[in-house]
Amino acid sequence: MKTFNVAVVGATGAVGEEMLRVLEEVNFPVAKLVPLASARSVGKEVEFKGEPVKVQELTEEVFEQEDIEIALFSAGGRVSAHFAPFAAEAGAVVIDNTSHFRMDPEVPLVVPEVNPQDIAAWRNKGIIANPNCSTIQMVQALKPLDDAFGVKRVDVATYQATSGAGKSAMEEMVMQMKDFFAFKLDESPHEVFPHQIALNVIPQIDRFMENGYTKEEMKMVNETKKIMHKEIEVAATCVRVPVLRGHSEAVTIWFEGPVDAAKARRVLEEGKNLVVVDDPENLAYPMPIMVVDRDETFVGRIRQDLYRDNVLHIWVVADNLRVGAATNAVRIAQKWVELEYDQ
Ligand SMILES: NC(=O)c1ccc[n+]([C@@H]2O[C@H](COP(=O)([O-])OP(=O)(O)OC[C@H]3O[C@@H](n4cnc5c(N)ncnc54)[C@H](OP(=O)(O)O)[C@@H]3O)[C@@H](O)[C@H]2O)c1
Repeated sequence: MKTFNVAVVGATGAVGEEMLRVLEEVNFPVAKLVPLASARSVGKEVEFKGEPVKVQELTEEVFEQEDIEIALFSAGGRVSAHFAPFAAEAGAVVIDNTSHFRMDPEVPLVVPEVNPQDIAAWRNKGIIANPNCSTIQMVQALKPLDDAFGVKRVDVATYQATSGAGKSAMEEMVMQMKDFFAFKLDESPHEVFPHQIALNVIPQIDRFMENGYTKEEMKMVNETKKIMHKEIEVAATCVRVPVLRGHSEAVTIWFEGPVDAAKARRVLEEGKNLVVVDDPENLAYPMPIMVVDRDETFVGRIRQDLYRDNVLHIWVVADNLRVGAATNAVRIAQKWVELEYDQ
């Protein structure tokens, strides 16, 4: 069986660490693992398959030097913009977690449960983009519903965990909680978020655009259309909540015709990597605490609109670091291997 030299760019970060765990768990055919990060991390080690592996500095040459075949990038948009072309030039397929290449018409934007066929376009630039974490879990739930009933419009409000903004964001929230219990929350600094996040919710993720929506909201709008190959109308309100891990979404879906909630539930139960938890009598519904370390997207609170027979409301929760980033990237890599080597 063919094995691959795999680089993880951003290996010391929240997503990068999860990449290493997922590669290990799915027993990805790794010949050599090369963890890369900034000069700050040189000398550090990460663990892979029980062995310590030295972190190397990301450079323009490292992909060629290490003969990298698959490069998983999650070190920020600017890092990908500069270094991903060097990895591709060295012959690697780049799977990029940042937003930098997502809307490039030559770069496929892939959620393997939804549009695996788009991976074939990887040769255009040698790059495949991984969508935004909030988009991934939403389109996973939308896809089977769209196939069955035809989706026209989606209104979504997100409840996004602090880990979505990286390790320092999680630390900022934990520090503020500690300061709260030490009665000094009003002195606690906020550097990652625009306001205090502990005991608060912030209706702003990423910067504001000219149209009044945030960049995060516009990612959900534009990426959904690109992945689903359909002009679905999307209106998003993205909100940061004081949760460490696991994004939640209240999703209102407008269909082309009448849709019955019971039928939709059956369709969702059959959906790839979806788990339906929807038992109000027993107070069972998805919550962030139950999705940590899980690779499925959880759906519940499936109910009919009170006024319109073509509208449903659902609640979608997933681990943003796995489903929303690392697991999706590794699943793309697995599909790419199938496409290139297993035919
Ligand atoms: N968190 C999520 O849920 C999520 C989901 C989807 C996509 N993403 C995207 O993934 C990327 C990383 O997110 P994260 O949450 O893992 O952030 P993070 O915890 O802050 O980690 C950032 C990683 O990037 C590395 N890095 C930063 N600047 C670098 C540079 N100039 N050269 C080389 N490496 C550099 C860091 O290395 P050092 O330790 O050496 O600084 C670290 O390994 C972001 O673009 C983010 O938008 C995140």
